[in-house]
Amino acid sequence: MKRTKIKVLLSTSPQHQEVTVQGWVRTFRNNQFIAINDGSTINTIQAVVDFATMDESVLKRITTGACVSVTGELIPSPAKGQTVEIKVNQLEILGDSDPEKFPLQPKKHSLEFLREIAHLRSRTNTFGAVMRVRHAMAYAIHKFYNDRGFFYIHTPIITGSDAEGAGAMFRVTTLDADKPPRDENGHIDYKEDFFGRETNLTVSGQLEGETYALALGEIYTFGPTFRAENSNTTRHLAEFWMIEPEMAFYDIQDNMQLAQDFLQYLVRYALDNCAEDLEFLHKRAQEEEQSKPQDQRSELCLLDRLKFVAENDFQRLPYTEAIEILKNSNPNKKKKFQYLVEEWGVDLQSEHERFLVEKHFKKPVILYNYPKDIKAFYMRQNEDGKTVAAMDVLFPGIGEIIGGSQREERYDRLLSRIQEMNLPEKDLWWYLELRKFGSAPHSGFGLGFERLILFVTGMTNIRDVIAYPRFPGNAEF
Ligand code: 4AD
Ligand code: MG
Repeated sequence: MKRTKIKVLLSTSPQHQEVTVQGWVRTFRNNQFIAINDGSTINTIQAVVDFATMDESVLKRITTGACVSVTGELIPSPAKGQTVEIKVNQLEILGDSDPEKFPLQPKKHSLEFLREIAHLRSRTNTFGAVMRVRHAMAYAIHKFYNDRGFFYIHTPIITGSDAEGAGAMFRVTTLDADKPPRDENGHIDYKEDFFGRETNLTVSGQLEGETYALALGEIYTFGPTFRAENSNTTRHLAEFWMIEPEMAFYDIQDNMQLAQDFLQYLVRYALDNCAEDLEFLHKRAQEEEQSKPQDQRSELCLLDRLKFVAENDFQRLPYTEAIEILKNSNPNKKKKFQYLVEEWGVDLQSEHERFLVEKHFKKPVILYNYPKDIKAFYMRQNEDGKTVAAMDVLFPGIGEIIGGSQREERYDRLLSRIQEMNLPEKDLWWYLELRKFGSAPHSGFGLGFERLILFVTGMTNIRDVIAYPRFPGNAEF
């Protein structure tokens, strides 16, 4: 008999109809009650076996972690907290799980421990919930852009350019690491490499995305990106997913509006479509909060935080004003910041971003018009000669969730910036050429997918919102 997913059964009216469920045993109580989960929902269904008639040797194999197939009658459940249960007629063990060895006992495990067994943490309530929310967000992203007439462009994973001009890239090569070919000066000769040149994994699809925005109007990318920075934080991964919309004829203000609409849409979508998983994650986050010292607890709990962000405008704030606020802030005057804010031009640290968002404005902040010296070469230069039309969206508990800008569409300005910053002009020939033929004002931004998932799920470490995190010193699985 074909199986029915538990999510469906839990909202089916029980009329003694025969059903089959296949899934993994979470618990088995009193030689009678099996809680089965099949991943379709956070909830389990209760299957009741009659131990008097069931073969003893089969009963013994119903253990936490085992995979079972049960067929029986769907009946109203007398137990509290569930409307239906299955009265089992047939039970088959599809896969045994030795209870002495299975590492996931029915108790609370630390996230650190679960990271060591990332191939099994998928079976926990927490990771089931996080991954279902992650899926819903991926779907909602495509829906948001599709509904607005944006086109999904697949930009290359292997590229020859450094989009951010920051140099933190993973090299892609097929040369023999022990004996690479060398040129007459003794340097490794990449002309002999697979692509006949140096290549790396992409840090961003933006530059290629721009070429399609200036043809199809409004596009977005959604793909994996790679950064070889040695950042061991709860906000950084070496491999993460990024959504990068790029729009012709948008200025920085239009760009900020789209970023706000986009984030609010996604949060609202999660609230509307992931209620059970969010409820679970909400409780989980609350328990975690309770173990923190009072002054480190967030003011709003997960569900309130999501509703707040979905309903309130983000604060737009020029960098220059942010510096004034920070300079005069209490933590700065009392030297509580690790990095004191003394002069215009400094890059903001996450302690400053979090102060603005969590303490000063108490809402998401879009900082814009940053000093050009702390931002990428492609950002549009403002008339003041000092700032560029950059924007970062800062979120409570997360810090920067989006980075973007209006792009420099003027050929001469772009070229001089590339030269000033000593970037490889020859690799960027095609990007420059875009400004020679039918250039147009345009803007875009990048949303870090895992940072979004952190925010929506209330998880606190980015390594727990992607199936197999990649970070310095770790590429297991
Ligand atoms: O600010 P970033 O570096 O901007 C860009 O890459 C632009 N090309 C985007 C664009 O304008 N099209 O990265 C964008 C976002 C950040 O705001 C952050 O959310 C996320 O990507 N991000 C990371 N997420 C996880 N791990 C890392 N190492 C990340 N680096 C950036
Ligand atoms: Mg950034």
